[in-house]
Amino acid sequence: MNDGGAVPRSGAQERQYGPLGTALVIIPTYNEAENVKSIVGRVRAAVPEAHVLVADDNSPDGTGKLADELVAEDEQVHVLHRKGKEGLGAAYLAGFRWGIENGYGVLVEMDADGSHRPEELPRLLTALKSADLVLGSRWVPGGRVVNWPKSREFISRGGSLYSRLLLGVPMRDVTGGYRAFRKETLEGLGMEAVASAGYCFQVDLAWRAAKAGFHIVEVPITFVEREFGDSKMSRDILVEALWRVTGWGISSRAKRLLGRDGR
Ligand code: GDD
Ligand code: MN
Repeated sequence: MNDGGAVPRSGAQERQYGPLGTALVIIPTYNEAENVKSIVGRVRAAVPEAHVLVADDNSPDGTGKLADELVAEDEQVHVLHRKGKEGLGAAYLAGFRWGIENGYGVLVEMDADGSHRPEELPRLLTALKSADLVLGSRWVPGGRVVNWPKSREFISRGGSLYSRLLLGVPMRDVTGGYRAFRKETLEGLGMEAVASAGYCFQVDLAWRAAKAGFHIVEVPITFVEREFGDSKMSRDILVEALWRVTGWGISSRAKRLLGRDGR
């Protein structure tokens, strides 16, 4: 079976899955002027039938204007201009809503900086044919990181381990941001209630999908650290992730102890 090295993680295997609709690749941007044109071009070349949505938070470096130029040249490229920097989570939620309203069947998350290689997207989409959610994963066999500082690798591995222990989620890469969702999965995981702003948004969605019983598959990816521009990772983003994940872990355990539907 050629499923791109997919590792099944949870949920029923025998289910029948409907055909995949058109994919929308959502690329959140904040100061990605050096990267936006190249990433959009690579997505268009790697998966020509997919559409792209750049979700820009009014980047001071003019990323939004460059996205407008791409939109003018290519009817499969779209842009969502947001009023200011509100975090990765808020940009993705707005992008998902836009995509669902506009009839896309698959919603893909991808960073703008080239860390998530568009050339690997066909493997994620193939795996999604028999899954509800596909995670591009650095921490399953075959997955790896290139040029990532050891400190970032430690935070990422630690964040996944902490989430696994506290929340009981089965995935290896819980914080990763290269993912493909079926529309129905997003509709079924309670997106409206998501309050996470920063990178813990990724943990939030993964946990919700696992709790909802969706079939989640991890596909190994090679994550390549950006060459241009700067990471937006910050102390505030880390602190938000730590307190939210800890809070979710404690409240779900308390609910379980009280015999209510936690997990
Ligand atoms: N619109 C918008 N608003 N985009 C944002 C914001 C924001 O507030 N913050 C970050 N982004 C965009 C960046 O422009 C980039 O396209 C993407 O989100 C990821 O940001 P990076 O700053 O490149 O993230 P990273 O490389 O440090 O972090 C990677 O690893 C994290 C931990 O595994 C990403 O893959 C994250 O998704 C992941 O959680
Ligand atoms: Mn990055």
